[in-house]
Amino acid sequence: MDNDQAVARTRDFVEQKFSQEGSGHDWWHMYRVWQLAKTIAQGEAGADMLVVELAALLHDVADSKLAESEAAGREEIAGWLQQLELGADVVDAVLGAVQNVSFSSSIGTPADGQHSLSLEAQIVSDADKLDALGAIGIARAFAYGGHKQRMLYDPARPPETYADAAAYHSNDTPTINHFYDKLLLLKDSLHTATARQLAGRRHQYMEQFLEEFYAEWEGKQ
Ligand code: ADP
Ligand code: NI
Repeated sequence: MDNDQAVARTRDFVEQKFSQEGSGHDWWHMYRVWQLAKTIAQGEAGADMLVVELAALLHDVADSKLAESEAAGREEIAGWLQQLELGADVVDAVLGAVQNVSFSSSIGTPADGQHSLSLEAQIVSDADKLDALGAIGIARAFAYGGHKQRMLYDPARPPETYADAAAYHSNDTPTINHFYDKLLLLKDSLHTATARQLAGRRHQYMEQFLEEFYAEWEGKQ
């Protein structure tokens, strides 16, 4: 099968698979990460575009929050890639790249552990993080908060930090706190220069949003 066909079939598979997902990992998240990953790859010399596209589309199939288990998710990805009749090197590179893309899986891991990621893995990881920033990131945060029935903001609850992924996922703090425990930190955890450039504007936009939010909270303008 040629590369364009493999990408088109994977796109349809992922669209179908995530069409019912309501927790911020719907098909359109996969779509945006796919588009962002292509943009980043164009700015980074030497990335294998087929691996980048397939890994971006498939990156949340093995996510622990969505799959039955991460192992089952990885099996599903491996099975999918195998029937596309791609070379074993492509399959291995995609499987390698979809591991460890999520922010929560990197909490508590040493920063220099990240250097072992392939360029394609770094690109998909950065694309996933960029989709949590900016106007889209703000919208996703409040959609997630609504899904979990969380408050928008509570001035009595200052931002907290979390020791590990379990503590991070079990917290029930207001959505505004999520900007301090994750979103505003993301720009400094990106791997590629191209993604860092794209993050600047999105980061600034969130800071402006927070300023506006607090002013409106106190009836000022
Ligand atoms: P990942 O996609 O890296 O696995 P998450 O599942 O943690 O990340 O997040 C998915 C989306 O939901 C992101 O846009 C993220 O900002 C948002 N989100 C995650 N946790 C919270 C939270 N506690 N409050 C608000 N939004 C959240
Ligand atoms: Ni994702």
